[in-house]
Amino acid sequence: MANIFPPNANRRFYGIIALGMLVLALILGGVYYLNFYVKEHAPVQPVRFSHKLHAGDLKMGCTSCHAAALRSPRAGIPDTKSCLGCHQHILPNSPLIAPLRAAADPQFPGYTGEPVRWVMVNRLSGHAYFNHMAHLNRGIGCTSCHEDAAGMEVMKAPRDA
Ligand code: HEC
Ligand code: HEC
Ligand code: HEC
Repeated sequence: MANIFPPNANRRFYGIIALGMLVLALILGGVYYLNFYVKEHAPVQPVRFSHKLHAGDLKMGCTSCHAAALRSPRAGIPDTKSCLGCHQHILPNSPLIAPLRAAADPQFPGYTGEPVRWVMVNRLSGHAYFNHMAHLNRGIGCTSCHEDAAGMEVMKAPRDA
């Protein structure tokens, strides 16, 4: 009887296994890659503001900047003028502070008066409505939802929050 398997059958067999494994690795790698990027959202901000430094190391309370959270649905982003309360004196000539002075310090040579355009990080999908005041009045602290905000060099959030 003639040989059913050609002499190179073994090599072909291993070749097919190797190709299968390569395809599987590419698929798994792709899924991992997408998951990594889609899960978290940490946009580049116009000013390199660090929560880790201000809220963590300097221990500034969350509501000293996000005071609106206590009395309105939105927590709000602090006015640049409140940053200059310190940064008129602290590193006023740092290039990292220049965009703040351009926005709010008329004495600054590069003054434009254009507000700093912070990029939104947390956004509920669709038209879900969230009310900060309602939660905070029930004693739920910031960290129960914004986890490790005081440890974040760059603010980030889950994609869908
Ligand atoms: C010195 C002022 C300051 C303090 C203190 C501060 N923040 Fe912020 N926060 C900002 C600024 C400015 C932004 C916008 C830039 C950014 O996203 O990093 C911001 C952004 C955020 C955002 C994202 C807003 C969005 O676009 O969705 C969250 C959430 C937040 N802060 C929570 C906190 C919490 C929780 C604390 C306390 C642990 C805190 N912040 C303390 C100034 C402050
Ligand atoms: C209570 C005072 C205080 C307030 C208010 C404050 N900061 Fe700061 N900030 C500091 C201190 C202290 C440092 C660190 C200075 C150092 O490294 O010597 C700093 C550092 C920075 C730096 C880094 C500067 C550099 O050259 O390394 C940036 C950017 C910055 N702050 C942005 C902001 C923004 C934006 C706000 C308003 C949302 C703000 N800060 C409000 C005290 C403050
Ligand atoms: C019960 C959960 C919860 C708590 C507690 C909470 N947040 Fe939020 N926060 C959210 C959600 C959800 C969003 C997104 C809201 C949206 O997209 O409308 C948000 C958005 C924000 C934003 C950006 C948009 C805005 O509202 O202006 C900031 C800043 C913020 N939170 C800060 C804080 C701070 C500071 C505290 C504590 C004082 C706090 N949050 C407590 C859930 C919470």
